[in-house]
Amino acid sequence: MTSSLLPTLPGRYYTDPLIFAAEQEAIFERMWFCAVRGSDVAEPGRFRTVTVGRESVLVTRGRDGAARAFLNVCRHRGAQLCAEESGSVKRTFRCVYHAWAYDLDGTLVAAPNLVRMPDVDRVEYGLRKVHVREWLGYVWVCLAAEPPSFEDDVMGACVERLGDLASIERYRLPELSLGRRIRYDVRANWKLIIENFMECYHCSTIHPELVHVLPEFAGGYAAQYYVGHGAEFGPDVAGFTVDGGAGQAAIETLAPEQGRRYFAITIRPQVFVNLVPDHAILHRMYPLAADHTVVECDWLFRPDVVAGGADLDPSVELFDRVNRQDFDACERCQPGMSSRAYADGGVLVPSEHHIAGFHQWVRDRLEGKK
Ligand code: FES
Ligand SMILES: [Fe+2]
Repeated sequence: MTSSLLPTLPGRYYTDPLIFAAEQEAIFERMWFCAVRGSDVAEPGRFRTVTVGRESVLVTRGRDGAARAFLNVCRHRGAQLCAEESGSVKRTFRCVYHAWAYDLDGTLVAAPNLVRMPDVDRVEYGLRKVHVREWLGYVWVCLAAEPPSFEDDVMGACVERLGDLASIERYRLPELSLGRRIRYDVRANWKLIIENFMECYHCSTIHPELVHVLPEFAGGYAAQYYVGHGAEFGPDVAGFTVDGGAGQAAIETLAPEQGRRYFAITIRPQVFVNLVPDHAILHRMYPLAADHTVVECDWLFRPDVVAGGADLDPSVELFDRVNRQDFDACERCQPGMSSRAYADGGVLVPSEHHIAGFHQWVRDRLEGKK
């Protein structure tokens, strides 16, 4: 008889710094990485610095309106160019060490004695560029010399989950406004966070508020278990809020079948998208160490809702609680990953079987098969 159980990854995959370094190289530094919200760099010269793989990346916007990204390292002697997490420059990024200054497009434009040093080529010694795409209102970057297909990897993940691209486009994510952002410092491996997000076997144990709004989650099967499936609101539920009360004005362009449902997408390797009729919740993970991941979570609403000063708390509180419940669970698992009890891993029950596909994908990436 075949077993209904599948193995997980062994514990060392969640603790070993060498495996984590290999993941940084084979996954986060090669794939498209969702770095910042486009509105974080709304005007020319506004910038954010983010950790992508083992690099600090400087994301900004040029005077032509295009988002750009560079390795955050001065080309002279290697000082970190921008030490702040966010900020704004008027014309140039100026290194504090010897005052080399770079234009918003990365070109070296000024340095002490530059005119007397003809060998210092302004383009060759410009900032190292990182590939950029803007989609869903976010700036995605890729550190690879030859990036993989954005259409296949990023857009493809949405199509695989929802059945088509039009379904996510109806939520008009680029036009929504940031209503709230919460950053979570999670003492757990990034894969524990993905695995947790993919399954709902834990929903009835740790998510009472979510299961009230989405009663089918009590059955343990996540919306992500089926293609194109959105979990339906309970009959007594008016909106995706902490108590099931009415939410905000709905996004006008949704299809009828999106009216009372929650859809979730995992875009590997570090993005979760949650879609409900009146808002979207987007998580970006920044894996910092084998046992440390920062998660930045954005709540996006219609611009008129945010501009009108609506009380967003009931909407935000639902998924903020879900996040805290989930990240507590991940942090509870992390120490167990280095126990000898988990040396050979644990098991996936049937409602978690789709996680095995994620594990295989991680192994394939590490072995260079993908
Ligand atoms: S290291 Fe930046 S100017 Fe010298
Ligand atoms: Fe959860």
